[in-house]
Amino acid sequence: MARRLMIAGNWKMNNTYAEAVVLCQHISNNFCKEWDDCVDTVVCPPAIDLKGVWGVFEFDNMPISVGAQNVHWEPSGAFTGEISTGMLKEIGCQYCIIGHSERRTLFGETNEQVNLKLKALLEAGIAPIVCVGESLEVRDAGTTDEFVCAQVRAAFAGVDAGKAKQCVVAYEPIWAIGTGRTATPEQAQEVCAAIRATLTDMYGAEAAEAMRVLYGGSMNPGNVEALVAQDDIDGGLIGGAALKAESFIDLVKAAYAQARK
Ligand code: PGA
Repeated sequence: MARRLMIAGNWKMNNTYAEAVVLCQHISNNFCKEWDDCVDTVVCPPAIDLKGVWGVFEFDNMPISVGAQNVHWEPSGAFTGEISTGMLKEIGCQYCIIGHSERRTLFGETNEQVNLKLKALLEAGIAPIVCVGESLEVRDAGTTDEFVCAQVRAAFAGVDAGKAKQCVVAYEPIWAIGTGRTATPEQAQEVCAAIRATLTDMYGAEAAEAMRVLYGGSMNPGNVEALVAQDDIDGGLIGGAALKAESFIDLVKAAYAQARK
């Protein structure tokens, strides 16, 4: 089944409001609307930049969506420093990254919290981009598939197939993030196939075939084509290479070329 490819930029904690607007203007100025025929393009800036970034794409009538990098699962209340799904929804967020390895390792985000966030986002009509991925220790121990698939099962616990279909999964091996060391297309394909097998087991083939599984970890314009050519890799979640308009545009362009093959 043909799934639309997705190129999602994860800016992490980069770009002030003014810098974010300038970068988005560059992206918008160089974006070709026909890429939207086969590629979903998403930009995930820091929360404080979301509204400005959304405004640039909206003003230019660009088919580029905006996503957040984190959310809290409660609708409102005494949670100092947190942001709710309703706040994201109102400013035009269509996606939200959850369970990124930096949040799991640096901020103690647990599988249970990822599951709560996923359910809250679906309730609000925001598509979660659920990150999973193994450390080098897990890979060296030979238990990558088990580890990653357990993260998938935990994230989707109690979620039915109809809802799950709205989610995107991003496989991001921790050892490949920001290191310049990309998983080979074969390594990435193997784990993405295992993720899809897990989703098939949970939700059946029809739902699993409809869900996007992205690869993330040092993806760049030079390696995107070989990665998205793999059967079970439906695009990328990109950090470093999403911070320059030129490389981000090249990533979308390459995904479009691959999708048209
Ligand atoms: P990277 O980051 O592309 O800089 O490796 C990817 C990510 O963390 O989402």
